[in-house]
Amino acid sequence: DGERAVRVERDGKVAIVTIDRPAALNALSASVLGELEAAFLALADDVPAIRGVLLVGEGGRAFVAGADIRAMTSLSPEEAAALSRRGHRAAAAIEALPAPVIACVDGYALGGGLEMALACDLIYATDASTFGQPEVKLGLIPGFGGTVRLPRAVGLARAKELIYSGRRIGIDEALDSGLVARSFTDRAALLDGARATVELIATNSPTAVGTAKRVLVEAAGRPTEVASDIEVGAFEDAFRTEDMQEGVAAFLEKREPRFGGA
Ligand code: HXC
Repeated sequence: DGERAVRVERDGKVAIVTIDRPAALNALSASVLGELEAAFLALADDVPAIRGVLLVGEGGRAFVAGADIRAMTSLSPEEAAALSRRGHRAAAAIEALPAPVIACVDGYALGGGLEMALACDLIYATDASTFGQPEVKLGLIPGFGGTVRLPRAVGLARAKELIYSGRRIGIDEALDSGLVARSFTDRAALLDGARATVELIATNSPTAVGTAKRVLVEAAGRPTEVASDIEVGAFEDAFRTEDMQEGVAAFLEKREPRFGGA
């Protein structure tokens, strides 16, 4: 390949990460996964100047049509495990960013593509979008976190049905199952809607939003007592922030808060 396939742009408080391999429907090769991980690790330095990230696919046909099937044909089982790890590391970098990431799906989000979307904080999509975990059709299973995050998003029974059948679902079922948070008529409306959500989030304390994300990510799948302890610890920390002092003072003084992010 050699070509870079992940592009990062800044638009005020919003960063846009674009997976740009439209000829392969933005399929995730090892190098694309490495670029994605690096992009999100680097973006962490720009928070709180940026308050949210949109993850999009180039070309208008697909968000991401999965892991790169062509590149997988030559892999040994050990190399396949390394590829799976790379996908998990990219997902971990998205989850570690201390600001919300919105997957903006316009078209196919299949296999590893759906798994990357699931690593984001929420999924917005156009009406023309299609979702699925078709790995079993290839003799594979989800390898970038689908068995972990899909049940959390849609419940165990629906996740099993999707993963065992490999069938694709459209926007109505994706909305109904809670996989997609909001739908839009077209790509422009999708991107505007996602930007508006970041702007809304940006009226709040960046520290508090970042901490809430960390707690949600760390608590996911943990036993209630462990998850509760994580929340209590983070709630305590919130009382050490200037943003908390400012937010509470602004409420009592009936004015808008001016959060400094400390
Ligand atoms: C590599 C892919 C690709 C993929 C599409 N392309 N998906 N290349 N990896 N996952 C390429 C096609 O080969 C084709 O290239 C071009 O993109 C356009 O795709 P078409 O198939 O011609 O388009 P269309 O007929 O419209 O069908 C669209 C589609 C289909 C339904 C999305 O492409 C499809 O089923 N793709 C595979 C989906 C899938 O099985 N994903 C899961 C992968 S496994 P050429 O050169 O012919 O124009 C996975 C595991 C994750 O994700 C974990 C790994 C560790």
